[in-house]
Amino acid sequence: MQSFYPKQRELNQKSINYVLGIETSCDETGIAIYCAKKGLLAHSLYSQIDLHNPYGGVVPELASRDHTLKILPLVKETLKKADLEISALDGIAYCAGPGLAGALLVGAVFGRSLGWALSIPTLGVHHMEAHLLAAMLEEETPPFPFIALLVSGGHTLLAQVECLGQYEILGESVDDAAGEAFDKTAKLLGLSYPGGPAIAKLAEKGRPERFRFPRPMLNKPGLNFSFSGLKTFVSSTYKAANKDEQTKADIAYEFQAAVVDTLVSKAQDAMAQTGLKRLIVAGGVAANLVLRKQLDDMAKKTKTTLFYPRLEFCTDNGAMIAYLGYQRLYLGQKDDLAIKTATRLPLDKLN
Ligand code: KG4
Ligand code: ZN
Repeated sequence: MQSFYPKQRELNQKSINYVLGIETSCDETGIAIYCAKKGLLAHSLYSQIDLHNPYGGVVPELASRDHTLKILPLVKETLKKADLEISALDGIAYCAGPGLAGALLVGAVFGRSLGWALSIPTLGVHHMEAHLLAAMLEEETPPFPFIALLVSGGHTLLAQVECLGQYEILGESVDDAAGEAFDKTAKLLGLSYPGGPAIAKLAEKGRPERFRFPRPMLNKPGLNFSFSGLKTFVSSTYKAANKDEQTKADIAYEFQAAVVDTLVSKAQDAMAQTGLKRLIVAGGVAANLVLRKQLDDMAKKTKTTLFYPRLEFCTDNGAMIAYLGYQRLYLGQKDDLAIKTATRLPLDKLN
Protein backbone atom coordinates (compact mmCIF):
# COMPACT_ATOMS: atom_id res chain seq x y z
CA MET A 1 0.00 0.00 0.00
CA GLN A 2 1.32 3.45 -0.93
CA SER A 3 1.32 6.58 1.15
CA PHE A 4 -0.85 9.50 0.10
CA TYR A 5 2.15 11.53 -1.02
CA PRO A 6 5.01 10.75 -3.36
CA LYS A 7 7.85 9.57 -1.06
CA GLN A 8 10.23 12.42 -1.74
CA ARG A 9 7.55 14.94 -0.76
CA GLU A 10 6.73 13.43 2.66
CA LEU A 11 6.63 16.62 4.73
CA ASN A 12 5.05 17.72 7.93
CA GLN A 13 3.89 21.28 7.58
CA LYS A 14 1.73 21.69 10.63
CA SER A 15 1.00 25.34 9.96
CA ILE A 16 -1.80 24.61 7.46
CA ASN A 17 -4.99 23.94 9.37
CA TYR A 18 -7.97 25.78 7.83
CA VAL A 19 -8.23 25.92 4.02
CA LEU A 20 -10.87 27.80 2.06
CA GLY A 21 -11.89 26.12 -1.22
CA ILE A 22 -13.42 28.06 -4.12
CA GLU A 23 -15.10 26.41 -7.12
CA THR A 24 -16.39 28.53 -10.02
CA SER A 25 -15.42 26.47 -13.07
CA CYS A 26 -18.88 26.25 -14.62
CA ASP A 27 -22.40 26.86 -13.32
CA GLU A 28 -22.00 26.26 -9.59
CA THR A 29 -20.48 28.62 -7.04
CA GLY A 30 -19.07 26.29 -4.38
CA ILE A 31 -17.30 27.37 -1.20
CA ALA A 32 -16.00 25.15 1.61
CA ILE A 33 -13.63 25.08 4.55
CA TYR A 34 -11.50 22.01 5.18
CA CYS A 35 -9.73 21.59 8.51
CA ALA A 36 -6.62 19.42 8.88
CA LYS A 37 -7.74 18.14 12.27
CA LYS A 38 -11.53 17.96 11.90
CA GLY A 39 -12.09 17.34 8.17
CA LEU A 40 -14.76 19.24 6.25
CA LEU A 41 -16.09 22.01 8.49
CA ALA A 42 -18.68 23.68 6.25
CA HIS A 43 -19.65 24.04 2.64
CA SER A 44 -22.11 26.13 0.61
CA LEU A 45 -23.26 25.80 -2.97
CA TYR A 46 -25.23 28.05 -5.25
CA SER A 47 -26.41 26.37 -8.46
CA GLN A 48 -27.14 28.49 -11.52
CA ILE A 49 -29.44 25.88 -13.08
CA ASP A 50 -32.48 28.22 -13.10
CA LEU A 51 -30.42 30.96 -14.73
CA HIS A 52 -29.29 28.79 -17.66
CA ASN A 53 -32.36 26.57 -18.03
CA PRO A 54 -34.20 28.87 -20.50
CA TYR A 55 -31.19 28.61 -22.86
CA GLY A 56 -30.91 24.80 -22.69
CA GLY A 57 -27.27 24.94 -21.54
CA VAL A 58 -24.69 27.08 -19.76
CA VAL A 59 -24.28 30.63 -21.11
CA PRO A 60 -20.64 31.42 -20.14
CA GLU A 61 -21.05 35.19 -19.76
CA LEU A 62 -24.10 34.78 -17.50
CA ALA A 63 -22.18 32.18 -15.46
CA SER A 64 -19.24 34.54 -14.83
CA ARG A 65 -21.49 37.45 -13.86
CA ASP A 66 -23.44 35.32 -11.44
CA HIS A 67 -20.27 33.97 -9.78
CA THR A 68 -19.19 37.58 -9.11
CA LEU A 69 -22.51 38.22 -7.34
CA LYS A 70 -22.56 35.04 -5.25
CA ILE A 71 -18.94 34.42 -4.27
CA LEU A 72 -18.58 36.92 -1.41
CA PRO A 73 -21.94 36.21 0.28
CA LEU A 74 -21.18 32.46 0.06
CA VAL A 75 -17.72 32.89 1.63
CA LYS A 76 -19.29 34.84 4.50
CA GLU A 77 -22.03 32.23 4.90
CA THR A 78 -19.50 29.37 4.95
CA LEU A 79 -17.28 31.09 7.53
CA LYS A 80 -20.37 31.59 9.68
CA LYS A 81 -21.40 27.94 9.36
CA ALA A 82 -17.86 26.92 10.37
CA ASP A 83 -17.91 29.45 13.22
CA LEU A 84 -14.63 30.86 11.96
CA GLU A 85 -13.23 34.37 11.50
CA ILE A 86 -11.67 35.03 8.11
CA SER A 87 -8.35 35.70 9.87
CA ALA A 88 -8.27 32.05 11.00
CA LEU A 89 -7.73 30.81 7.42
CA ASP A 90 -4.26 29.32 6.75
CA GLY A 91 -4.60 28.81 3.00
CA ILE A 92 -6.83 29.26 -0.01
CA ALA A 93 -7.40 26.95 -2.97
CA TYR A 94 -9.33 27.83 -6.09
CA CYS A 95 -10.24 25.78 -9.14
CA ALA A 96 -7.76 26.82 -11.86
CA GLY A 97 -9.23 24.65 -14.65
CA PRO A 98 -10.29 22.99 -16.81
CA GLY A 99 -13.52 24.95 -17.07
CA LEU A 100 -15.06 28.06 -18.62
CA ALA A 101 -12.48 30.84 -19.00
CA GLY A 102 -14.50 33.70 -17.50
CA ALA A 103 -16.07 31.60 -14.76
CA LEU A 104 -12.66 30.27 -13.66
CA LEU A 105 -11.26 33.79 -13.56
CA VAL A 106 -13.86 34.94 -11.04
CA GLY A 107 -12.81 32.32 -8.46
CA ALA A 108 -9.12 32.71 -9.27
CA VAL A 109 -9.04 36.50 -9.00
CA PHE A 110 -11.13 36.43 -5.82
CA GLY A 111 -9.07 33.62 -4.22
CA ARG A 112 -5.66 35.02 -5.17
CA SER A 113 -6.58 38.52 -4.01
CA LEU A 114 -7.99 37.32 -0.69
CA GLY A 115 -4.87 35.20 -0.17
CA TRP A 116 -2.70 38.27 -0.80
CA ALA A 117 -4.80 40.42 1.55
CA LEU A 118 -4.55 37.80 4.31
CA SER A 119 -0.89 37.00 3.51
CA ILE A 120 -1.58 33.26 3.33
CA PRO A 121 -0.49 30.67 0.75
CA THR A 122 -2.85 30.38 -2.20
CA LEU A 123 -2.99 27.67 -4.85
CA GLY A 124 -4.88 27.03 -8.08
CA VAL A 125 -5.87 23.35 -8.24
CA HIS A 126 -6.98 20.99 -11.00
CA HIS A 127 -10.75 20.54 -11.43
CA MET A 128 -10.60 16.85 -12.41
CA GLU A 129 -8.05 15.98 -9.74
CA ALA A 130 -10.47 17.48 -7.22
CA HIS A 131 -13.33 15.29 -8.58
CA LEU A 132 -11.05 12.29 -8.52
CA LEU A 133 -10.22 12.73 -4.83
CA ALA A 134 -13.72 13.82 -3.69
CA ALA A 135 -14.40 10.31 -2.35
CA MET A 136 -11.58 10.96 0.17
CA LEU A 137 -14.03 13.22 2.02
CA GLU A 138 -16.07 10.15 3.01
CA GLU A 139 -15.55 7.99 6.07
CA GLU A 140 -14.30 4.93 4.13
CA THR A 141 -11.44 5.97 1.86
CA PRO A 142 -9.45 3.78 -0.50
CA PRO A 143 -5.74 3.20 0.05
CA PHE A 144 -3.56 3.85 -3.02
CA PRO A 145 -3.20 2.59 -5.70
CA PHE A 146 -6.67 2.44 -7.25
CA ILE A 147 -8.54 2.96 -10.52
CA ALA A 148 -10.64 6.08 -11.00
CA LEU A 149 -13.57 6.34 -13.39
CA LEU A 150 -14.13 10.05 -13.93
CA VAL A 151 -17.37 10.91 -15.67
CA SER A 152 -18.41 14.54 -15.88
CA GLY A 153 -19.83 17.05 -18.34
CA GLY A 154 -16.41 17.72 -19.87
CA HIS A 155 -14.44 14.50 -19.27
CA THR A 156 -14.77 10.74 -19.38
CA LEU A 157 -11.64 8.87 -18.40
CA LEU A 158 -10.16 5.90 -16.61
CA ALA A 159 -6.98 6.57 -14.66
CA GLN A 160 -4.62 4.53 -12.53
CA VAL A 161 -3.93 6.56 -9.39
CA GLU A 162 -0.61 5.80 -7.68
CA CYS A 163 -0.71 8.61 -5.13
CA LEU A 164 -1.49 12.32 -5.01
CA GLY A 165 -0.47 13.82 -8.37
CA GLN A 166 0.47 10.58 -10.13
CA TYR A 167 -2.24 9.68 -12.58
CA GLU A 168 -1.82 7.43 -15.59
CA ILE A 169 -4.64 7.85 -18.10
CA LEU A 170 -5.68 4.35 -19.21
CA GLY A 171 -8.45 5.51 -21.53
CA GLU A 172 -10.60 8.53 -22.29
CA SER A 173 -13.34 9.74 -24.57
CA VAL A 174 -12.19 10.44 -28.10
CA ASP A 175 -15.17 12.78 -28.64
CA ASP A 176 -18.10 13.73 -26.36
CA ALA A 177 -17.89 13.21 -22.61
CA ALA A 178 -20.60 11.00 -21.04
CA GLY A 179 -22.24 14.00 -19.29
CA GLU A 180 -22.15 15.97 -22.53
CA ALA A 181 -23.94 13.09 -24.29
CA PHE A 182 -26.62 13.13 -21.55
CA ASP A 183 -26.98 16.91 -21.94
CA LYS A 184 -27.21 16.81 -25.76
CA THR A 185 -29.70 13.92 -25.75
CA ALA A 186 -31.84 15.73 -23.18
CA LYS A 187 -31.85 18.82 -25.39
CA LEU A 188 -32.90 16.71 -28.39
CA LEU A 189 -35.80 15.26 -26.37
CA GLY A 190 -36.82 18.76 -25.21
CA LEU A 191 -35.89 18.11 -21.56
CA SER A 192 -34.58 20.63 -19.06
CA TYR A 193 -30.94 21.44 -18.34
CA PRO A 194 -28.82 19.75 -16.95
CA GLY A 195 -29.64 16.72 -19.04
CA GLY A 196 -28.30 13.91 -16.82
CA PRO A 197 -30.86 14.11 -14.03
CA ALA A 198 -33.66 14.88 -16.55
CA ILE A 199 -32.85 11.79 -18.67
CA ALA A 200 -32.51 9.62 -15.55
CA LYS A 201 -35.95 10.72 -14.32
CA LEU A 202 -37.68 10.18 -17.67
CA ALA A 203 -35.93 6.80 -18.13
CA GLU A 204 -37.75 5.50 -15.03
CA LYS A 205 -40.91 5.38 -17.20
CA GLY A 206 -39.09 3.85 -20.18
CA ARG A 207 -39.53 0.28 -21.43
CA PRO A 208 -36.43 -1.82 -22.04
CA GLU A 209 -37.62 -3.80 -25.06
CA ARG A 210 -38.63 -0.95 -27.42
CA PHE A 211 -35.25 0.23 -28.79
CA ARG A 212 -31.74 -1.18 -29.07
CA PHE A 213 -28.91 1.39 -29.34
CA PRO A 214 -25.24 0.56 -30.00
CA ARG A 215 -22.83 0.20 -27.06
CA PRO A 216 -19.96 2.35 -28.38
CA MET A 217 -16.41 0.92 -28.42
CA LEU A 218 -17.37 -2.33 -26.69
CA ASN A 219 -16.28 -4.38 -29.66
CA LYS A 220 -12.95 -2.52 -29.83
CA PRO A 221 -9.89 -3.29 -27.69
CA GLY A 222 -8.48 -0.61 -25.41
CA LEU A 223 -10.08 1.56 -22.77
CA ASN A 224 -11.15 4.60 -24.80
CA PHE A 225 -14.74 5.79 -24.99
CA SER A 226 -16.74 7.40 -27.78
CA PHE A 227 -20.27 8.75 -27.46
CA SER A 228 -20.83 10.80 -30.60
CA GLY A 229 -21.98 7.80 -32.70
CA LEU A 230 -24.55 6.92 -30.04
CA LYS A 231 -25.74 10.54 -30.05
CA THR A 232 -26.24 10.41 -33.85
CA PHE A 233 -28.08 7.07 -33.56
CA VAL A 234 -30.40 8.53 -30.89
CA SER A 235 -31.01 11.61 -33.01
CA SER A 236 -32.01 9.65 -36.15
CA THR A 237 -34.19 7.28 -34.08
CA TYR A 238 -35.99 10.24 -32.53
CA LYS A 239 -36.49 11.98 -35.88
CA ALA A 240 -38.14 8.86 -37.32
CA ALA A 241 -40.30 8.16 -34.24
CA ASN A 242 -43.58 9.54 -32.89
CA LYS A 243 -42.77 12.29 -30.42
CA ASP A 244 -45.12 11.13 -27.67
CA GLU A 245 -44.09 10.97 -24.01
CA GLN A 246 -43.76 7.16 -23.95
CA THR A 247 -41.42 7.20 -26.96
CA LYS A 248 -39.25 9.85 -25.30
CA ALA A 249 -39.13 7.76 -22.11
CA ASP A 250 -38.22 4.62 -24.08
CA ILE A 251 -35.40 6.51 -25.85
CA ALA A 252 -34.15 7.97 -22.55
CA TYR A 253 -34.14 4.48 -21.04
CA GLU A 254 -32.16 2.88 -23.85
CA PHE A 255 -29.75 5.81 -24.17
CA GLN A 256 -28.95 5.65 -20.45
CA ALA A 257 -28.58 1.87 -20.63
CA ALA A 258 -26.12 2.16 -23.56
CA VAL A 259 -23.95 4.75 -21.76
CA VAL A 260 -24.01 2.81 -18.48
CA ASP A 261 -23.19 -0.54 -20.15
CA THR A 262 -20.22 1.11 -21.88
CA LEU A 263 -18.87 2.78 -18.74
CA VAL A 264 -19.23 -0.36 -16.62
CA SER A 265 -17.70 -2.64 -19.23
CA LYS A 266 -14.63 -0.42 -19.75
CA ALA A 267 -14.21 0.03 -15.98
CA GLN A 268 -14.29 -3.75 -15.57
CA ASP A 269 -11.67 -4.10 -18.33
CA ALA A 270 -9.45 -1.54 -16.55
CA MET A 271 -9.68 -3.51 -13.30
CA ALA A 272 -8.80 -6.75 -15.11
CA GLN A 273 -5.94 -5.14 -17.05
CA THR A 274 -4.29 -3.64 -13.97
CA GLY A 275 -5.21 -6.33 -11.46
CA LEU A 276 -6.31 -3.62 -9.02
CA LYS A 277 -9.34 -4.23 -6.82
CA ARG A 278 -10.35 -0.70 -5.80
CA LEU A 279 -12.41 1.62 -7.98
CA ILE A 280 -13.31 5.27 -7.29
CA VAL A 281 -16.16 6.70 -9.36
CA ALA A 282 -16.44 10.48 -9.53
CA GLY A 283 -17.81 13.45 -11.50
CA GLY A 284 -21.39 14.54 -12.17
CA VAL A 285 -22.46 11.35 -13.99
CA ALA A 286 -21.39 9.33 -10.90
CA ALA A 287 -24.64 10.64 -9.38
CA ASN A 288 -26.54 8.40 -11.82
CA LEU A 289 -28.25 5.66 -9.81
CA VAL A 290 -28.50 3.16 -12.69
CA LEU A 291 -24.74 3.50 -13.20
CA ARG A 292 -24.16 2.99 -9.46
CA LYS A 293 -26.39 -0.11 -9.39
CA GLN A 294 -24.63 -1.70 -12.37
CA LEU A 295 -21.19 -0.85 -10.98
CA ASP A 296 -22.24 -2.40 -7.64
CA ASP A 297 -23.22 -5.61 -9.47
CA MET A 298 -19.94 -5.66 -11.39
CA ALA A 299 -17.99 -5.03 -8.17
CA LYS A 300 -19.68 -7.93 -6.41
CA LYS A 301 -18.94 -10.27 -9.31
CA THR A 302 -15.28 -9.23 -9.59
CA LYS A 303 -14.58 -8.72 -5.84
CA THR A 304 -13.85 -5.05 -6.44
CA THR A 305 -14.36 -2.47 -3.68
CA LEU A 306 -16.18 0.64 -4.86
CA PHE A 307 -15.83 4.16 -3.50
CA TYR A 308 -18.10 7.10 -4.36
CA PRO A 309 -18.30 10.65 -3.12
CA ARG A 310 -21.69 11.36 -1.51
CA LEU A 311 -24.21 12.43 -4.18
CA GLU A 312 -23.86 16.19 -3.57
CA PHE A 313 -20.06 15.97 -4.03
CA CYS A 314 -20.30 14.13 -7.39
CA THR A 315 -21.20 17.36 -9.20
CA ASP A 316 -19.08 20.52 -8.86
CA ASN A 317 -18.62 21.72 -5.27
CA GLY A 318 -16.24 23.68 -3.06
CA ALA A 319 -15.53 20.78 -0.67
CA MET A 320 -13.43 18.83 -3.20
CA ILE A 321 -11.40 21.98 -3.96
CA ALA A 322 -10.80 22.72 -0.26
CA TYR A 323 -9.76 19.10 0.35
CA LEU A 324 -7.34 18.92 -2.60
CA GLY A 325 -6.07 22.42 -1.78
CA TYR A 326 -5.29 21.30 1.77
CA GLN A 327 -3.36 18.22 0.57
CA ARG A 328 -1.19 20.31 -1.77
CA LEU A 329 -0.74 23.35 0.50
CA TYR A 330 0.34 20.90 3.22
CA LEU A 331 3.15 19.86 0.89
CA GLY A 332 4.30 23.46 0.73
CA GLN A 333 2.94 24.09 -2.76
CA LYS A 334 1.71 27.62 -3.40
CA ASP A 335 1.37 30.00 -6.32
CA ASP A 336 3.22 33.26 -6.78
CA LEU A 337 1.17 36.41 -7.26
CA ALA A 338 0.24 35.58 -10.86
CA ILE A 339 -3.36 34.50 -11.36
CA LYS A 340 -3.32 31.35 -13.46
CA THR A 341 -6.26 29.60 -15.06
CA ALA A 342 -6.53 27.21 -18.02
CA THR A 343 -9.58 26.01 -19.92
CA ARG A 344 -7.66 22.83 -20.78
CA LEU A 345 -5.22 21.20 -18.39
CA PRO A 346 -4.06 17.58 -18.78
CA LEU A 347 -4.44 15.53 -15.60
CA ASP A 348 -1.39 13.35 -16.25
CA LYS A 349 0.96 16.36 -16.49
CA LEU A 350 0.51 17.35 -12.84
CA ASN A 351 3.23 16.93 -10.24
O1 KG4 B 1 -18.85 17.23 -12.63
P1 KG4 B 1 -19.94 18.10 -13.11
O2 KG4 B 1 -20.83 18.77 -12.09
O3 KG4 B 1 -19.37 19.26 -14.00
C1 KG4 B 1 -18.33 19.09 -14.86
O4 KG4 B 1 -17.19 19.10 -14.39
O5 KG4 B 1 -18.64 18.86 -16.05
O6 KG4 B 1 -20.82 17.22 -14.11
C2 KG4 B 1 -21.94 17.73 -14.74
C3 KG4 B 1 -22.46 16.66 -15.67
C4 KG4 B 1 -23.58 17.16 -16.57
O7 KG4 B 1 -23.31 16.76 -17.89
C5 KG4 B 1 -24.82 16.47 -16.01
O8 KG4 B 1 -25.82 16.24 -16.99
C6 KG4 B 1 -24.23 15.19 -15.48
O9 KG4 B 1 -22.99 15.56 -14.92
N1 KG4 B 1 -25.08 14.58 -14.46
C7 KG4 B 1 -25.67 13.38 -14.59
C8 KG4 B 1 -26.44 13.19 -13.42
N2 KG4 B 1 -26.28 14.27 -12.60
C9 KG4 B 1 -25.42 15.12 -13.26
N3 KG4 B 1 -25.63 12.49 -15.60
C10 KG4 B 1 -26.36 11.36 -15.46
N4 KG4 B 1 -27.14 11.10 -14.38
C11 KG4 B 1 -27.20 11.98 -13.34
N5 KG4 B 1 -27.99 11.70 -12.29
ZN1 ZN C 1 -16.74 19.12 -12.54
